[in-house]
Amino acid sequence: MNNAGYTGATAFARHPRRPMKHLLIVYHLPQGKMQAMAQAVERGARHEDIAGVEVRVAQALESGPDDLLWADALLLGTPENFGYMSGGMKDFLDRSFYPCEGKLEGMPFAMFISAGNDGTGALTAIRRIANGFAFREVREPVLVVGELTDDHLAACEELGMAMAAGVELGVF
Ligand SMILES: Cc1cc2nc3c(=O)[nH]c(=O)nc-3n(C[C@H](O)[C@H](O)[C@H](O)COP(=O)(O)O)c2cc1C
Repeated sequence: MNNAGYTGATAFARHPRRPMKHLLIVYHLPQGKMQAMAQAVERGARHEDIAGVEVRVAQALESGPDDLLWADALLLGTPENFGYMSGGMKDFLDRSFYPCEGKLEGMPFAMFISAGNDGTGALTAIRRIANGFAFREVREPVLVVGELTDDHLAACEELGMAMAAGVELGVF
């Protein structure tokens, strides 16, 4: 699916009695590759044909349980640091766990990760914590190892668009 080809559910979503769905994008850090990836994910999520989804983008250190409880679907972005997710992302998930416990079962989520030479440590760690929240991973992660390319950015945009379209259509 690419941007040009997506026709979406615009007619449905603009129906006045159909409530807006909420997509939350949380990432850390706001710099370098991760910043560019997050911007691409957001661009996809805000695709003009997806009219029934409100998108909220938040820095992990400034985000918390209120954002998660608002959301119908979630995208998490982090670099891999020392074989794990970033400290900011871990802090966000730690602070959110008890206030959200038992309230977000089945929430669709996906990840985008930047790494120098691996990335699997961050991926595995988030998956383990997502199990604790009972999130459901509904899309393959975008894992960027090494230099960020236009193809990677296109994959990030596609991820954002797919999550927004999926939550709009209620397919997750
Ligand atoms: C403190 C620190 C620890 C890192 N540890 C890892 C690591 O364990 N595995 C890895 O693949 N990359 C590691 N990296 C590299 C980053 O994951 C990589 O640069 C990533 O793309 C973040 O870059 P960005 O800030 O431009 O998004 C580390 C970088 C830093 C600063």
